[in-house]
Parts: sequence; C-alpha cells; structure tokens
Amino acid sequence: KPIYVLNGPNLNLLGSREPEIYGHETLDDIRDSMRKQAGNRDIDFRQTNSEGQLVDWVQEANREASALILNAGAYTHTSVALHDALRACTLPIIEVHLSNPAAREPFRQTNYVAPAATATIAGLGSRGYHFALDAAIKMTA
Ligand code: DQA
Repeated sequence: KPIYVLNGPNLNLLGSREPEIYGHETLDDIRDSMRKQAGNRDIDFRQTNSEGQLVDWVQEANREASALILNAGAYTHTSVALHDALRACTLPIIEVHLSNPAAREPFRQTNYVAPAATATIAGLGSRGYHFALDAAIKMTA
C-alpha cells in the first residue's frame, strides 16, 4: 500500500511564499526527493487548498494507504473536521510543519492535528518530510 503525503492550503506556493520562513524548495522539489528516498515504496503526494478535499483524502488514506504524512497548513489551527477525520483514521499519522508553529504567532498555538497524530515533526524545513518518510517506512515495513 502507498504512503500518502497530504499537503494543505498555500503549500502550492512553496519556494516563493515567505522563503525566509518556509525555504526556497518548491513542493514539487519535495515530492521528487521523497520519491527518490522512498525507493520501491509508492508515495501518493497531493496538495489542496480546500478543507473538504483534505477530509476526503484522509478518509481515502484510511482505506487505501499504509501510513499518512500530513502538513495541514493553516487548517492545523482551525479544523475540527480534519481532527475528526484523523481520529477516525487508524493508520500511523505523522504531522509535519516546515516552520515551528509553537515558536510563532499566538493564532498558531491551537493545533487540531497533533492530538490525533502519532508524531509531529516541526521546525526542520523540508528535512522534516524526509524524517517523517523514514519513520513511516520503518513503521510499515
Ligand atoms: C505550516 C505552518 C502553518 O502554521 C502555516 O499556516 C502553514 C505552513 C508549516 O509547514 O510550517 O501554512 O504548516
């Protein structure tokens, strides 16, 4: 079964969006290097700006995937619907953030993803995705 890597709102702008916070790599760069890292494991890598789409994909992951890596972007801080979808998902769930929201604005201090995740990796830039993939591969070997 594939490992799903789901990305939420505004992550399609990676590379040009506040590069001092989020880095110069694009989301396509991250996808390509994760695919290389994954070897023969299948990576299903997606991005959406829509909350409902993310909920649908989490439900789909629970049926179709072996593990879920999720950067929910700003929905991390707002979405009870996403929290509920993750609660219903029995896969290993690894939350990733490029920045460290805990060290940022007060409105980023609420997190609806972390309490439903197996683990959280934040503040390590795109390397966080690679650490998450390494863990997901080992957890589902
Ligand atoms: C982010 C952190 C969120 O607070 C923010 O809304 C994002 C990106 C990160 O990867 O650092 O869109 O998830």
